[in-house]
Amino acid sequence: CSSLGIGLAGLGTVGSGVVLALERNAGLICDRTGGRTGGRVKLEVAKVLVRDPAKVRPVTLPAETITTSWRELVEDPAVDIVVELIGGTTDAFEIVAAALKSGKPVVTGNKALLAERGVELFALSREFDVPIHFEAAVAGGIPIIKTVQESFIGNRIHSITGIINGTSNYILERMTTGGLEFSAALSEAQALGYAEADPALDVNGWDAAHKAILLATLAYGFPIDPAKVHVAGIEQVRPIDIEFATRLGYVVKLLAVVREHPGGEVELRVQPSFIAKSHILASVNGVFNAVAVHGDAAGESLFYGRGAGQDPTASSVVADLVEAGRSLRQATGHRGFLPYRENGTLLPVEDTET
Ligand code: NAP
Ligand code: HSE
Repeated sequence: CSSLGIGLAGLGTVGSGVVLALERNAGLICDRTGGRTGGRVKLEVAKVLVRDPAKVRPVTLPAETITTSWRELVEDPAVDIVVELIGGTTDAFEIVAAALKSGKPVVTGNKALLAERGVELFALSREFDVPIHFEAAVAGGIPIIKTVQESFIGNRIHSITGIINGTSNYILERMTTGGLEFSAALSEAQALGYAEADPALDVNGWDAAHKAILLATLAYGFPIDPAKVHVAGIEQVRPIDIEFATRLGYVVKLLAVVREHPGGEVELRVQPSFIAKSHILASVNGVFNAVAVHGDAAGESLFYGRGAGQDPTASSVVADLVEAGRSLRQATGHRGFLPYRENGTLLPVEDTET
């Protein structure tokens, strides 16, 4: 396999998950990227940016790979692809902009950065002809960016509706069925690695709004000013609201709605909503997300999965890394043809469970 060096900015919840996923599945990725044009890809962590090198972490990396200087990371000749997982919109902006200007593809899970400063960054991406991959920015492990950008490319999209903040969904469920206070439920979500470094963004609806802005931009192709989006979060939900919802046969969910109106205007809002218990979204619980995409050809499709947390988010980051690596190596990989391997064993029918 031919090695590609990753510059990993951030070794927190998601960054550590990426290192662990690469450790577990490097061989699998190498096998799967081999194709007709060759170019098996091995992804190797070449440099890592952190704030505090002394912090105890779930992963161990050689001391010489660790730096506290983002410039050192971006400029390191061993770094082919830059992964931004520090969060925020200031240093993260500098890192992504510098990577693009150096011709290094970027992978990021930072929805705040792309929703707030995407216009500037995608202008750089076009100017320097270097891609920004951001599957991890929306709905954790659900491949919703690829779905809207690629699978639905032949559709006019009528709407995208769903639950796209795992922390809010987790808190609402714990308040409903666990009888927890808001603050106790939020502490649990933080301990599980679901919440943002600034959890205000989760509970005031802005994390979901940033994601909805990205989905709307993909679906309708114009920049959206965050200041013009209607956003309300679950911080406004009181136990009495949940009690009323339960009595009336509803559950409370934080819903993001992106919808094209007949005149072509796009409606975009995020708000806590009453959902009938019989509705499919009512059973999306805990950290799970669900996104319904309605296209004129495909009709409505629902995408469901873990919307936050270390492993699901790392899954999306690694997929983007492979995508970036394939284009750097100009390898087709397993796209459009199925490479059979020589061996493999099917479990005998009598041993399969019903
Ligand atoms: P996190 O646990 O807070 O980790 C942030 C990491 O970045 C830490 O390793 C921190 O270093 C480093 N860092 C932060 N600011 C820095 C700076 N100015 N210079 C150098 N290093 C800096 O965050 P996370 O949960 O992994 O999230 C990272 C990104 O992924 C965010 O944009 C978030 O929105 C996005 N995301 C998160 C999830 C999730 O479920 N957590 C899901 C999807 C997307 P130290 O460790 O030394 O403090
Ligand atoms: N804080 C976010 C959430 C992480 O809870 O959904 C995933 O983007």
